Amino acid sequence: MNDAADRRIRTRDEPAGADDFGGQLEIWRIRMERALAARLPEADKVPARLHEAMRYSVLGGGKRIRPAFVFATARTLGLSEDQVEAAACAIELVHVYSLVHDDLPAMDNDDLRRGRPTCHKAYDEATALLVGDALQPLAFELLATDPALSASPTVRLRLIDMLAQAIGTFGMAGGQAIDLAVQGTRLDIGQVEDMHARKTGAVIRASVLMAAECAPPLDPSLYAGLTRYATAVGLAFQIQDDLLDVTGDVSKLGKATGADSERAKPTHPAIIGITASQQRVRLLHSQAINALAPFGERADPLRSLAHWLLSRQY
Ligand code: IPE
Ligand code: IPE
Ligand code: MG
Ligand code: MG
Ligand code: MG
Repeated sequence: MNDAADRRIRTRDEPAGADDFGGQLEIWRIRMERALAARLPEADKVPARLHEAMRYSVLGGGKRIRPAFVFATARTLGLSEDQVEAAACAIELVHVYSLVHDDLPAMDNDDLRRGRPTCHKAYDEATALLVGDALQPLAFELLATDPALSASPTVRLRLIDMLAQAIGTFGMAGGQAIDLAVQGTRLDIGQVEDMHARKTGAVIRASVLMAAECAPPLDPSLYAGLTRYATAVGLAFQIQDDLLDVTGDVSKLGKATGADSERAKPTHPAIIGITASQQRVRLLHSQAINALAPFGERADPLRSLAHWLLSRQY
């Protein structure tokens, strides 16, 4: 699998279309499916309904983009996928928890996720709450004790702290609180971007920086470059999600479209329109690519990932 992955990663001298990197993403996606399945509780263990709902929510769908950020950063810094796979699983588990809760009637009230009924539709609301309650500690358990993670106790503690910060009140949970509070209100674009940096950007940034934490200490200027890259792509990712809510295709997205305007969410397309939002995404993309300059061609996996994201349709 690693050899195939090596061949598929583009070099700067050999620029290829986003399609090529799609093959690499698919390899990582399949790896994650196995890695997550092995780390989730078996569905026939008591409480079976909760375990079944956890597996239903985590397995069989999703782009696994945050794990791709972990793996692409690992490659950039000379680590193998094996060394960071458990960290990638931890991040994906908290991401799925955030989706399960995001879809609840008390939040976005969505019925479709990853092409299937949302967790609370397939099971019930109490189970969906518990799925989130259970996925979150499982993520931290992996960072604390997963034997596959190549990290010292000090690095494990740092990873736990980084993930906790990324999903707490100054990260994802806080961003989600702002998202709910501002529905139906007018925000300027700076306020929207602050919300996005918290609710989505923080976890994407953590995906890059947690992988970097597993590598030998980086020169501060390289670490700053990685941080700038991750911040720019994280923000661009939510702007694109909001664009796809307007321009996307339900059958490709696997979730409803038009939901943001129905709930009067202040988004880039709602405030500045589609064309200006697309321009903002392209500007963030070039900022991300520029931030990788000090790495030379070592950072090609991260460049390819950013290029692939630029034209994503789901
Ligand atoms: C959707 O994330 C929620 C956001 C933070 C925008 P993804 O677009 O990564 O969803 P999956 O994991 O592929 O389903
Ligand atoms: C969700 O943003 C961000 C999370 C932290 C889950 P959205 O509410 O826009 O995500 P989708 O569109 O439902 O996937
Ligand atoms: Mg939401
Ligand atoms: Mg939502
Ligand atoms: Mg959305």
